Amino acid sequence: MPFTADQHEETILGDIGRSLAEMEFEHPPAVTAALRTALESGPVGYLDDEEILRMQSAVGDWLAASYGWRPAAETIRPVPDLVTGFRAILTHFVPEGVPVIVPTPGYMPFLSVPPSINRPAIEVPMIEDGAHWRYDFAGIRAAFAGGARLLVLCNPHNPIGKVAADEELREIERIVAEFDGLVFADEIHAPLVLGERPHVVYAARSERAAAHTITATSASKAFNIPGTKCGQLVFTNPDHLRHWRRVAHWHEHATSVLGVIATEAAYARGRAWLDEIVEDLRETLREAVAALHASAGRTGIGVIEPEATYLLWLDLRDSGLLRDDVSAARAVYDATRIRVTDGADCGRAGAGFVRFNAALPRPRVRAAMERLIRAAEADGPGRGAAGAHGVG
Ligand SMILES: Cc1ncc(COP(=O)(O)O)c(C=O)c1O
Repeated sequence: MPFTADQHEETILGDIGRSLAEMEFEHPPAVTAALRTALESGPVGYLDDEEILRMQSAVGDWLAASYGWRPAAETIRPVPDLVTGFRAILTHFVPEGVPVIVPTPGYMPFLSVPPSINRPAIEVPMIEDGAHWRYDFAGIRAAFAGGARLLVLCNPHNPIGKVAADEELREIERIVAEFDGLVFADEIHAPLVLGERPHVVYAARSERAAAHTITATSASKAFNIPGTKCGQLVFTNPDHLRHWRRVAHWHEHATSVLGVIATEAAYARGRAWLDEIVEDLRETLREAVAALHASAGRTGIGVIEPEATYLLWLDLRDSGLLRDDVSAARAVYDATRIRVTDGADCGRAGAGFVRFNAALPRPRVRAAMERLIRAAEADGPGRGAAGAHGVG
């Protein structure tokens, strides 16, 4: 349930926004109740086999009901969070020194984690064609041909809010198979599809896709419980699963029992709450995008309505907001006191963009858009330090 405007009256005058992807909403009541009961009824111990079974059953039921995909229970493995899972997959499935492919703009850890463990991240910028971003298949192919082993496929996409079309997934599948590569399919934002295009589970497309994919999923984004620490990796290739089971004990062990309890409650009893949140986000984002489009001639700010997630990917390259001396995020904050993520942290393709997290009560998003529009109007389109595309 979103907070009311009254609850936020004072804060509307202060900073707005979060640079991490968390929602400023109350927890699903089912999650709060389940955690309270768990804490009141005994000690909170380490994760054991019985809890893993409960997690597998809850996640399996959710995936089947939501996407018609029912991976075998034993293929669904716990990790505390998906960045930890990503790091573990790189460690155990990609040899040191071998690059991984990240279509950009991309979620920041996809770019920073690989080099931190000596796996170079190859950025393959997506192609901007007016109102859309498309995967650069030739670029992905060239990266595999150059020796890369794994493609990061974030769908729905953080930060641009894109839901991949089935034809795009088909082409990706063909390329990965041709090079005998791997896909890390991060589908954490799948429950937050807002538009018409449904989420397609990449590994469920075909046996070929299943064989080269490790899927990452979690209730943490959609149900706003990242602090409870329970995500899942789904191994649809039996050899990958066998390898994981040999190496994964301590990665899995870091998963929280409270996370399992929160996940179970969210998935089993949280759908009505989620439906309400998605409806609220859909309207909030539609209104924000409409305000930005209506003022674009005066502000130079570009935005594409997201098909999923609660993120707005704001193109400031033609606005006067950018400055030479600071990042785009800092320039926005200085001018508006709105906290955003800097697009350049999402790769070179993100330079001149910022990511605004709109999972806030609507009055706060409205206030943020008003401030942003006012500041950009004051500077006028294209009259700032950057001006033309590609700068910043
Ligand atoms: C695409 C994507 N993957 C992974 C994560 C990490 O989520 P968690 O820490 O809840 O596993 C996020 C968080 O914003 C995300 O957007």
